[in-house]
Amino acid sequence: MGDEMSTGETTVPKGVRVFSGMQPSGEAHLGNYLGALRQWVSLQDEHECFFCIVDQHAIMGNVAPDELPERVLDLAVSFLAVGLDPERSTIFVQSDVPEHTELAWLFNAVTPVGNLERMTQYKDKSAELESIPSGLLNYPILQAADILLYRAGAVPVGEDQLQHLELTREIARRWNARYGEFFPEPEAIRGGAGRILGLDGKAKMSKSLGNTVGILAEPDEVWDRVRTAVTDPQRIRRDDPGRPEVCNVFSLHRHFTDPDRIPDIAGQCRAATRGCVDCKRILADSIADHFEEARERAAELRASPDLLREILDQGARRARTEARATLKEVRERMGIRGRGRG
Ligand code: TRP
Repeated sequence: MGDEMSTGETTVPKGVRVFSGMQPSGEAHLGNYLGALRQWVSLQDEHECFFCIVDQHAIMGNVAPDELPERVLDLAVSFLAVGLDPERSTIFVQSDVPEHTELAWLFNAVTPVGNLERMTQYKDKSAELESIPSGLLNYPILQAADILLYRAGAVPVGEDQLQHLELTREIARRWNARYGEFFPEPEAIRGGAGRILGLDGKAKMSKSLGNTVGILAEPDEVWDRVRTAVTDPQRIRRDDPGRPEVCNVFSLHRHFTDPDRIPDIAGQCRAATRGCVDCKRILADSIADHFEEARERAAELRASPDLLREILDQGARRARTEARATLKEVRERMGIRGRGRG
């Protein structure tokens, strides 16, 4: 796991429009926060940002229809709780803006199947399936449409999405070559925390693996989760010396615990003067403190569902204004009538 910002911050010129999306897996967890949300919050200071909850991507997983709406709203609460600001940024749900899927269809015309088949994520996911939905293959086309619909110039993404972004650029190039220069080729913004391991200390933190800590968990739930975290496997007894450099709990300390305390935490681990349980206790407290304000904001939002709905509706209206303008131009250049649409 990378240290804070160690993956090398990309500097994007001020004013370039930023787009990013996240799958609605419910309340955000520490991996979502360190890998994406924390960076999205600061991007708002210098950029016009669009942040989208991509529910139409999520149907390629096996999410139950009666769970999806709740997951969308829970993620929206997490967005707002950590400080994505609906006054400054456009925060919305993909399916509220039907132009995403229309543009994705039109992009089918310029996307080679061979490029889609080369995507690592597609190869990994399809390998587990007996029958592969074509949406799994076409998934990156919808992602390209998400970004290019707003003609965004920069996209904060983690390592695992770089290939999809490269394909987005390819789609923009091919479309421009055929129908005339219109779409920018969006750049990746790096500088998220990189791969955050789950509590098992092995796999990437991910909801489906059950190795997460929710950012909005109450302090006692945070402790219930953190106490299960795997530490240095060589430290079997309490007086065995530990190796902070291989311990995932220590990596999390670096993100959440006061930096002044870090040398002490590492030293006491190495000297076996502090046991793993106590070390986890400190981590749980740091995490719970870090998100105290977020929990308060989340509670307020949950108490006023009308407000949350209004924020998402307003986001969708703003997004749609942009989306319509793009689609109008795109249809015209492609010779598609689309009468009766906005
Ligand atoms: N595929 C992304 C993921 O799973 C989510 C996503 C959809 C996205 N559309 C996007 C990310 C557009 C960035 C830009 O993480």
